[in-house]
Parts: sequence; C-alpha cells; structure tokens
Amino acid sequence: MNQGEALPRNIVLIGFMGCGKTTIGKRLARMLGYPFVDTDQIIEVKTSTTIAEIFETRGEAYFRQLEAAVLQELAAPDAPRRIVATGGGIVGRRQNRILLRQLGYVVWLQAPVAVIEARTSRNSERPLLAKNSKPRQKIERLLAARTPLYHEIADLELDTTELDTKEIACGILESARYYFAP
Ligand code: S3P
Repeated sequence: MNQGEALPRNIVLIGFMGCGKTTIGKRLARMLGYPFVDTDQIIEVKTSTTIAEIFETRGEAYFRQLEAAVLQELAAPDAPRRIVATGGGIVGRRQNRILLRQLGYVVWLQAPVAVIEARTSRNSERPLLAKNSKPRQKIERLLAARTPLYHEIADLELDTTELDTKEIACGILESARYYFAP
C-alpha cells in the first residue's frame, strides 16, 4: 500500500462456493470482535427471500444487480470495520473487484475441485449447482473463469482443505495484523 493511502478497514473473504467463507468469516469476527456480514445473507434479508428463490423467479442477472448494490453499500466511507464474506461469483464484475479492493484486506479461500464438489453436494441451496447433472464440470468451468479474477484482487491466498477453521482464521489474522495495528 502506498503511504498516505487510506487504511483498508475490513477483512474480505472471496472464493468459490464451498471454500469456507462463511464459517471462517464467523470465526474471524468472534476473534476480533467485529461484526460479520455476508453479501448473500444481506440480499436475503433485504428481499425477504432466498438466493435460490431469486435465481428461480428473477434469474441470475437480477441477483448480480442486487449483489453489486449490496457491495456498494458496504463500501460506504463511514462504515464500521467488519468481516465481509462474499458470494463466489461476486468477482465477475469489474466494478465489484474495484470495490472489494477498496473494502480492505482481501483473502481468497481455495479448495481443489473434488473438495468443492463434496462440500457443495451436501446441500441444495446453491442454484448454480443444484439440479445440475454434471456439477463437477460446472465447477471446473466456473472455477477456470474465476480463478484469474480472484487472483487479481487477493492480498492472501489460502487453501482450506487441510487446516481447521481456527488454524485458518489465525493465519489470516497473523497476515492481516499490519492493517489492524493501532
Ligand atoms: C454463487 C455463490 C453463492 C451465491 C449464489 C451464486 C456463485 O454464494 O452467491 O448462489 O456464483 O458462485 P457462496 O459462494 O457463499 O455459496
């Protein structure tokens, strides 16, 4: 970061579905005493419905508009420090990537395709993978398209396969400590 640039205020978790953004985000929030927010959760509260329902009734393009609007709100200059978990596809829009960088310290949580497939098959709340007869191919395709975008904005890249939640959260705090120094 250049001298004189405003300090990033948040820890922002990005990465594909099933890479642990919500679980690790909640743990970080507890450790730091910061509020935890999740862009998907905010959208569900604002619309009083579920992400799956939004995809079903209004389509993905509409969901992406809501997602971009929520991110814009989170980037308000007077917002408190937070742990921000994001939906896996948020990096698709260039303007979102700019805002994510402005929000703070960006951590890209990763896992191999097989692990993502196993984790995401345990629930059917993810409309991009639900009802898909070949989820593995879909995961591979989306991941290939998104990997350069995650990489472009990440300050830190972490594989979540082997480590437990506490170890990952401690690793993130250790590397983000300069951002939160008084
Ligand atoms: C999406 C990921 C989901 C949610 C929506 C679309 C994606 O969030 O935003 O189903 O495009 O990868 P999680 O990454 O939290 O599952």
